[in-house]
Amino acid sequence: MEKFYFEEPSIGRKEDAIAYINEFYEYNSDINGTGGLNRYLADYEMWLKKLEEDYARIPDEKKVPARTYFLVREGDNRIIGMINIRLALNESLRKYGGHIGYSIRPTERGKGYNKINLYLGLKVCQDYGIDKVLMDADKDNPASWRTMEALGGVNIRGFYDEKNAHCIVRNYEINVDESVRNNLAIYEPMTVNGIFREN
Ligand SMILES: CC(C)(COP(=O)(O)OP(=O)(O)OC[C@H]1O[C@@H](n2cnc3c(N)ncnc32)[C@H](O)[C@@H]1OP(=O)(O)O)[C@@H](O)C(=O)NCCC(=O)NCCS
Repeated sequence: MEKFYFEEPSIGRKEDAIAYINEFYEYNSDINGTGGLNRYLADYEMWLKKLEEDYARIPDEKKVPARTYFLVREGDNRIIGMINIRLALNESLRKYGGHIGYSIRPTERGKGYNKINLYLGLKVCQDYGIDKVLMDADKDNPASWRTMEALGGVNIRGFYDEKNAHCIVRNYEINVDESVRNNLAIYEPMTVNGIFREN
């Protein structure tokens, strides 16, 4: 069985990380959950520094502390996805964006990998004491809201977002402990022992 884990971005992943983002451009795909990597392709080292700063932030109305990880497939050591986990919410994220942003590279979609990504992300939330995760997805992005629903997400609200998405956005809430408990049997066999490995 294929197994997956989270890896903290490091200098050793520079080429792989850039190739990950370039694939989104090649396929003209939305980019999400990358901690801004797409804006730092010319200066990966600076991005690593930014991630350190992201983690150390004191939450305010502009920024909150966050962690960004690569989802790696053990068998071929390939970056399959990314996730950005906000460790606190401000008013703006409560309305739009929530705790988690994620992506799976275009050539690896539709294989259930994002569900593993979110499962591992919820385990990280557990470690940080986040009980309820808020997330949202555009109504026309079923792959995203179905991921949330598959992990026990409850659609708590829908609204037309004039400011950011310019479409109907669905808000979800996930009870973290309940979700991890209910999905353990499915996803734990697809993850390495523990959540993380170092590159
Ligand atoms: C959203 C995204 C992460 C989904 O990744 P993925 O690996 O293809 O998702 P999965 O294969 O794990 O599928 C998750 C669920 O969505 C469904 N799904 C997958 N692709 C779908 C599609 N094209 N249309 C409808 N449903 C789809 C799956 O069937 C599954 O639901 P199920 O468990 O009820 O069967 C990926 O499309 C992506 O990176 N998109 C660009 C960035 C983005 O939009 N991020 C989310 C912003 S909120």
